[in-house]
Amino acid sequence: MHVLILGAAAGGGFPQWNCNCRLCRGVRDGSVEATPRTQSSIALSSDGERWLLCNASPDIRAQLSNNPELHPRKIPRDSGITGVLLMDGQIDHATGLLSLREGCPFDVWCTPNVHQDLSGGFPLFRMLEHWQGGLNWRPIGIDDDHLEAEFEVPDCPGLSFTAVALTSNAPPYSPRRGAPTPGDNIGLLIEDRRRGTQLFYAPGLGELDDRVRNFLGRADCVLVDGTLWHDDELIRAGVGQATGADMGHLALAGERGLLSELATLPQTTRRVLIHINNTNPILDERSQERAALARAGVEVAFDGMRLEV
Ligand code: MLT
Ligand code: MN
Ligand code: ZN
Repeated sequence: MHVLILGAAAGGGFPQWNCNCRLCRGVRDGSVEATPRTQSSIALSSDGERWLLCNASPDIRAQLSNNPELHPRKIPRDSGITGVLLMDGQIDHATGLLSLREGCPFDVWCTPNVHQDLSGGFPLFRMLEHWQGGLNWRPIGIDDDHLEAEFEVPDCPGLSFTAVALTSNAPPYSPRRGAPTPGDNIGLLIEDRRRGTQLFYAPGLGELDDRVRNFLGRADCVLVDGTLWHDDELIRAGVGQATGADMGHLALAGERGLLSELATLPQTTRRVLIHINNTNPILDERSQERAALARAGVEVAFDGMRLEV
């Protein structure tokens, strides 16, 4: 399968418009060696022609423009994007649907929880009904009784999808904020049946349990939550009060951090971090933290990165 990293930053992007933290300031004025990144989104394809957008970011217009694979090719109104899949209902993963309105109707795969939030607190499904019939909901069957769900996406022939419930958090406009239930956040195991390879994608990973470890362990490539280095990083940087635990993002550092988990994977597993917050020191290419990742064989996704799995 082909994977395009359209945006590798967390909500807000890097630099974030109103952020004056060391890294945002440094990438603006050139005092920190770092590359700007747009908000979290990838595209997947089995044939290199038809692409499934996983998360529709507020930066989608620039992302589509920067990736020729996704440009119109054949008919007067056309796109390489044939459908959208949402990992959660957060602003950084769903707002781009508004910018796709000219292409409605198209299919949107998401869980019942995400569909409910995007019909209620952030009513994208209802708003977009006014554009050529809007969004065609394709349910991903994760709920209290189903923590895993297998499905196929017709425009991705040869790929099998397994969604897995993750513990993270629901968006601020959700009735389940602070008390998420299965379906508020998912990870995806995508198998290329022809190549016999597997990708595990999870941009929002709040906690790991043995079920999730099993998925990580099976994959040839993991593309996972690199939001924060320290759980209290926003507080340390003086830009917020929320911890990683509050937001539903397991920090990289620490004895029980995500890096320790990644270190237990088979040597051959490709490890790539995505959804990186602008406060995370790994964005500074000269930082100790970035050097520690290099020693651990962990890559940092960037806009325009391509993975072949
Ligand atoms: C998150 O990943 O926790 C959210 O996207 C944060 C946000 O964008 O407000
Ligand atoms: Mn996010
Ligand atoms: Zn910042």
